[in-house]
Amino acid sequence: MTPDTNPTDDATDGPTDDPTDGSTDQPSDDARLAPDGGVDAGGADETTLDPWGSATVSDYRNLFAEFGIEEFDEILPEVPDPHYLMRRGVIFGHRDYRPVARAMREGDPFAALSGFMPTGDPHIGHKLVFDEIIWHQRQGGDAYGLIADLEAHSARGMTWDEIDEHARDYVLSLLALGFDPEDGELYRQSDNREVQDLAFELGIEANYSELQAIYGFDGETDVSHMQSVVTQMADILYPQLDEPKPTVIPVGPDQDPHVRLARDLAARTRYFGVTEAYASFAVDDDERALLAAAYETLSERHPDRTVRCGDAATYLENERDPGATDARATTIDSLVTMLSEAGKEPLRPRVRFLERNATGDAFEALIEAIDGEKRVYDEHVDAFDLDRAAAERLARDVELDHGGYGFRAPSSIYHRFMTGLTGGKMSSSVPASHISLLDDPEDGYDKVQSATTGGRETAEKQRELGGKADECPVYELYAYLLAGEDDEFATEVYEECVGGERLCGGCKEQAAELMRKFLEDHQDEREKWADRLDELDIDFDTDRT
Ligand code: TRP
Ligand code: SF4
Repeated sequence: MTPDTNPTDDATDGPTDDPTDGSTDQPSDDARLAPDGGVDAGGADETTLDPWGSATVSDYRNLFAEFGIEEFDEILPEVPDPHYLMRRGVIFGHRDYRPVARAMREGDPFAALSGFMPTGDPHIGHKLVFDEIIWHQRQGGDAYGLIADLEAHSARGMTWDEIDEHARDYVLSLLALGFDPEDGELYRQSDNREVQDLAFELGIEANYSELQAIYGFDGETDVSHMQSVVTQMADILYPQLDEPKPTVIPVGPDQDPHVRLARDLAARTRYFGVTEAYASFAVDDDERALLAAAYETLSERHPDRTVRCGDAATYLENERDPGATDARATTIDSLVTMLSEAGKEPLRPRVRFLERNATGDAFEALIEAIDGEKRVYDEHVDAFDLDRAAAERLARDVELDHGGYGFRAPSSIYHRFMTGLTGGKMSSSVPASHISLLDDPEDGYDKVQSATTGGRETAEKQRELGGKADECPVYELYAYLLAGEDDEFATEVYEECVGGERLCGGCKEQAAELMRKFLEDHQDEREKWADRLDELDIDFDTDRT
C-alpha cells in the first residue's frame, strides 16, 4: 500500500471551542526560560533530531519552523491545572496534544507512556519524564513506564546483566517519585509479548528505505536495531490495544522522529481514511482549500442553481494571476484541468471514506452504516449527509467491529534538555555534568557548589548588571527541579538574580542544600520501594545472556 504522508487528521483534532481559562499563577514573562534556551540564539545552524545521537538542540525555534513541532504555550490555557514544567516553559513543544488535554478536561480516557533505555543511572534529566508520566497519571490517565531493554541491547550494546541492574534503578526512581503501579503499568520490552506482536504487525507497514530516510540507517545497520524501532512504535501504540484513546508520549525532542513515524504507522493500519471532497476526483490539501473557497463564493453568488465543476474552473481561471508561476498558480492550474474534465458534474461538499486496509466485509458494513445520501465507488464511498467528525467516528467503530485497532495518532510533549552543570550539554558519561538520582547527597551538594553559573566576574558587577539567569545551569536547577511547585520561589530567584540582588555564592549554597535534601528524600523513598519490588509484575533477573 502507499504510505500516506498526511494521514493523521483525526476528527477530534480541530481547534477546541472551550478552552479553560488561562491559569493565573504563571511567573511573569521574563521569568520564563528564554525561548531559545539561552543557547546559540544567533548562529542557528541546522538542527538534526537523532534519537541515538547526542541530545543537543542549538535553537529550539528551529524545531517549530523545521519540524512542525507546535509551541506548548499556545495550548497551555487548555490544560487543566498545568504541571510546573509546563507553566515554566520547560515543556516547550508538542505534537497534537489537544485531544489529550480535552480528554483530561472532560474526564474521557487517555494515556501517557514513556520509555527509558537502561544504559546508566537515572539522573535529573530523566526525572523530568518521570514527573510528566506521574502527573498525567494523577490527572486521570492510564500511565505506562517501560524499560527499553531491547533497544539498549541492540543499539547500545548493553549486556543483560547491566540492563537488569539499570532497569531496577529506573523503576525504583519512578516509583519513589510517585508512580502508582497498581493503577499504571511498568514493563520491559523483552517481556511484553503483546508489544512484540504489535511490533511485528507494524513492521509490515514500514520498509527499509523509510528507516533509512528517517534515521540515516545504512547497509551496516543491524537488523535488531531496526527491530528496536518497530518495538518502540509498538510501545507508543500499546496503550490503545484495548481501546483507542488519546495518548501522550512525553520525551525529549530527539525522539520526535519516532513520534512522527508512530503517527504515520498508526494511520497506515487504519481500515479507512476519511477526507473531505467536493467532486468525484481526488484532491490534495492545497487543492481542497482552493476548491472550498471557490465553492463557497459560487454558491453564494448563485443560491438558486447547481454549481458545477465547469463553473469552478472558469472562476478559478479568472482568479489566477496570468503571469504567476508560484505554488498557488500551479495548484490552480491542476485544479482547472480536473474541473474542466468533470465539466457538468455538480460541485458538492461531501466526506469521503477511502478504503485502505479494510476487509471486504468491513467495507460492506461501512457502506451499510452510512446514513443519508451516499455514492459508492470501487475504493471509496462519498457521504453527503455526514460531517467530518461523525464520519471519523463511524470509520473507527466499523473498524473496531471488524477486528481492527482503530488507532488514534499518538501525541507528544517535548521538554528542554538541561544544561550540564559544567556548561555545555548534560551528559551521562560526564559525571560532573549531571546529578544522578543515585548520587550520594553530599556529592550532589558538591556538584552544585562547583557548577558553572551565569554570574559576573565580580560581586560589584553582579550588583550593577545582574546575573544571567537565562544562561545559568544553577537557575535551571531551581526552575526544573528545586523550586518544585513553588512558582513564586522560582520567580524570586530569577528576579533577584537578574536584578543584581542575588550573588552566586549564596545562590549556589541554597541550591546545593536543596539538592542534598532532594537526594536524601528521594533515596529514602527508593529504599522503601526496594523491599516491595517483588510485589510488582516486572522481572529484574533475566536469564538472557
Ligand atoms: N528510544 C527511547 C530512548 O532512547 C526509549 C523508548 C523506547 C521510548 N520506547 C519508547 C520512549 C516509547 C518513549 C516511548 O530513550
Ligand atoms: Fe545563577 Fe544564582 Fe548566580 Fe544568578 S545568582 S547567575 S541564578 S548562580
